[in-house]
Amino acid sequence: MKILGIESSCDETAVAIVEDGHRLLSNVVHTQIDIHAQYGGVVPEVAARSHIEIINPAINQALANAQLTWDDIDAIAVTYAPGLIGSLLVGTLAARTLATIHNKPLYPIHHVEAHVYANFITDQSDHLDLSLPSRQPSFPMLALIVSGGHSQLALFQDHGNYELLGQTQDDAVGEAFDKVAKIIGLPYPGGPSIAKAALNGDPNKYRLPKARLQNPYDFSFSGLKTALLRGVQAETGHDYSFPSHELPALLDDVQRADFAASFQKTAVETLVDKAEKAFRDHTPKSVVIAGGVAANQELRRQLAERLPIEIEYAPMQLCTDNGAMIATLGYFYAQKIDPVSPYDFEVVPSLSMTKTAWAK
Ligand code: KG4
Ligand code: ZN
Repeated sequence: MKILGIESSCDETAVAIVEDGHRLLSNVVHTQIDIHAQYGGVVPEVAARSHIEIINPAINQALANAQLTWDDIDAIAVTYAPGLIGSLLVGTLAARTLATIHNKPLYPIHHVEAHVYANFITDQSDHLDLSLPSRQPSFPMLALIVSGGHSQLALFQDHGNYELLGQTQDDAVGEAFDKVAKIIGLPYPGGPSIAKAALNGDPNKYRLPKARLQNPYDFSFSGLKTALLRGVQAETGHDYSFPSHELPALLDDVQRADFAASFQKTAVETLVDKAEKAFRDHTPKSVVIAGGVAANQELRRQLAERLPIEIEYAPMQLCTDNGAMIATLGYFYAQKIDPVSPYDFEVVPSLSMTKTAWAK
């Protein structure tokens, strides 16, 4: 079964075709990072307009790269939640129109749940060259989902049967990377630039706090971000508040690298503390990491050091937003639930992970 997956919830216009929930046939990702970089973050209206320009060419490109036509496609899967409303509308409208014209079943996909499914792609067409995991994760599976909009720890007993163990109470971890990058004057997106700067920094230079929460699996990154801002203010002797152009300009490269390294160490340690506790409490058969922050090498290093299980990672290209994860989850949906009518389904800009979509 070949599924065409469409993703447009934030700043990537992405379309992919996946066969039987594991074989990647094509993967087209058009990122808007350059467009938004000048503003220091995603501008929703600009994002929606860019999706409109790119969506049709991206769909055609995905079919062409896989050397397929619409006759070969069995179903369409599309992100309907959560995300920026204008961006979601572009992808879902394209999917609904194409499902109607080509008479294909349509599956609405939860973006955060889909991130986990990047780990189920284990095979690819000859023209692709991604470094994929050798096999699909087994259940029970512990998933650490760390993206720009989400930080979640979920325990999957099976496809669609999962329990949310904990989630962020304020900023998502990727959001914290992005905001801290702004505070210390590193370019957007903050995750990769902090990771790069941290390579030259001393992770023990600044002591930063870890939040203590009632639910030991929950996260909170807002206090860490504020503590870092206070640290920068103390270091520079100026109390410019955030956001400010003046404050980052007062730091030199050594201070910037030390702040980046200290922040990254504490943020990653927090994630790994929670993942380690969940692992000990629930003894899953596999652990997967999902979302843009899964690309972080320090996170991978600390997980390898502290979890007594080997983790296979999805390639970077499938950790950040893409259509392949949408198509892959679409396949498992197609096994369990009925498609929706293209005439009456709506986007849901904020929706936490739930298993209701699978319940029959
Ligand atoms: O999953 P994603 O592409 O979009 C969302 O669904 O949010 O994640 C984007 C996030 C951004 O916050 C970005 O700064 C972060 O992932 N990110 C990283 C790294 N690469 C991307 N964070 C830490 N280290 C990285 N190497
Ligand atoms: Zn995402």
